[in-house]
Amino acid sequence: MEKLVIEGGRPLSGAIKIHGAKNAALPILAACIMASGTHTLHNVPNLLDIEVMLQILRALGCKADRQGETVNVHSSKANSSYIPEELMGQMRSSIFLMGPLLARFGSVTVYQPGGCAIGERKIDLHLRGLEALGAKIEEKGNMIVCTADVLTGTEIVLDFPSVGATENIMMAAVKAEGVTTIFNAAREPEIQDLQNFLNTMGADIIGAGTDTITIRGVKTLAPSEYNIIPDRIVAGTILVAAAATRGTITLERVNPSHLTSVIHVLRRAGVQILVNDDIIHVSCPTRPKAVERIVTSPHPSFPTDLQSQIMVLLSLADGLSIIKETIFEGRFKHVDELSRMGADIRVDLNSAFIRGVPRLYGATVEATDLRAGAALVIAGLAAHGTTIVEQVHHIDRGYDRIEHMLSRLGAVIYRHTPVPSE
Ligand code: UD1
Repeated sequence: MEKLVIEGGRPLSGAIKIHGAKNAALPILAACIMASGTHTLHNVPNLLDIEVMLQILRALGCKADRQGETVNVHSSKANSSYIPEELMGQMRSSIFLMGPLLARFGSVTVYQPGGCAIGERKIDLHLRGLEALGAKIEEKGNMIVCTADVLTGTEIVLDFPSVGATENIMMAAVKAEGVTTIFNAAREPEIQDLQNFLNTMGADIIGAGTDTITIRGVKTLAPSEYNIIPDRIVAGTILVAAAATRGTITLERVNPSHLTSVIHVLRRAGVQILVNDDIIHVSCPTRPKAVERIVTSPHPSFPTDLQSQIMVLLSLADGLSIIKETIFEGRFKHVDELSRMGADIRVDLNSAFIRGVPRLYGATVEATDLRAGAALVIAGLAAHGTTIVEQVHHIDRGYDRIEHMLSRLGAVIYRHTPVPSE
């Protein structure tokens, strides 16, 4: 198993360009199957999850190739709407293919993605939305078979603004007959990016980014060329890393308007942030201050995907901070690992009470999931001594060679790949 080895205690400095957004690229790649032909996507990050999505597209009969950050998806020969269980099991986001496959072939067979490290993660809202559009859903054990001779536009009210359900329903509705309106839709920037991509293919969608999205069904779609937005979670992770190491860095190729709540919290912690078009300058010359209360909630509130990272900064802040996690019930697994590095954190139900300590100390810790892993890397950068982060494959799902990004900012971090006999 690969490990990251970090010699901590060095302030980050320099400039870095932020790669494309995983959570935008995944549904956009899935949407490529809806229009036959060659799609060209730019700024596609080179990540494990993206690779799994490309493998699934290939299993469905598409061709996909990558040159640097550009991916071509050739979907003319797509001939299957069956997603193999082993690929489904590798990435929950394969559920995104339900809407597109239903729109193209009128049927789709998937397997329950099941629970995952950060919580139960049900798909009832996805299935209810597709049913409302006229799909018939049969669950046979772990397998879900979804069929529809015709999909018909309708009004759908989501009980909760689920990102994935909003995206799945949007994609299924693109070629439905008539108008579909999604109320209480998720408002994440990745949903706007999906809308923009689908519209370049000839779809007729308005409202993404608000809580009401209207999709007028169209008869045909054409392949498209598109630029994926920068990854706001990677940007947020690097911002927090700079602050936690008391560094000074510049983020380039970033969209600051996607990070409003994060910038707000960092400023409350005393971190200095200057925004200029697609550039963010951050510096943190003094010890950060505690932040009384952060609540993770759907966009535009503070993102659950940056909860573990901000906890590291608050572990080093002056005073008591409280973080309430409202999106995923299992998202405090990093707390035990941070405690082993000297953090003083108590968890009560879905709230973490963080009493800042003057310093963290290097230790051997385990990345239990993607964002928890990123948090441990930040802790290692800020800590005194050597930190070893195990189970790095979780981090590779969402960060393109995190050690390269951080080395360019002056961090001492390298990947240890065991030789077979180790
Ligand atoms: C997406 C992001 C993930 C992020 C999350 C919340 C992608 C690929 N992943 O995940 O990084 O952490 O949004 O911002 O974009 N729920 C149900 N029933 C459903 C669907 C969801 O109860 O049918 C619940 C989930 O269990 C969870 C909450 O809704 O508690 C949020 O989930 P959702 O917004 O759907 O997240 P994902 O789309 O899975």
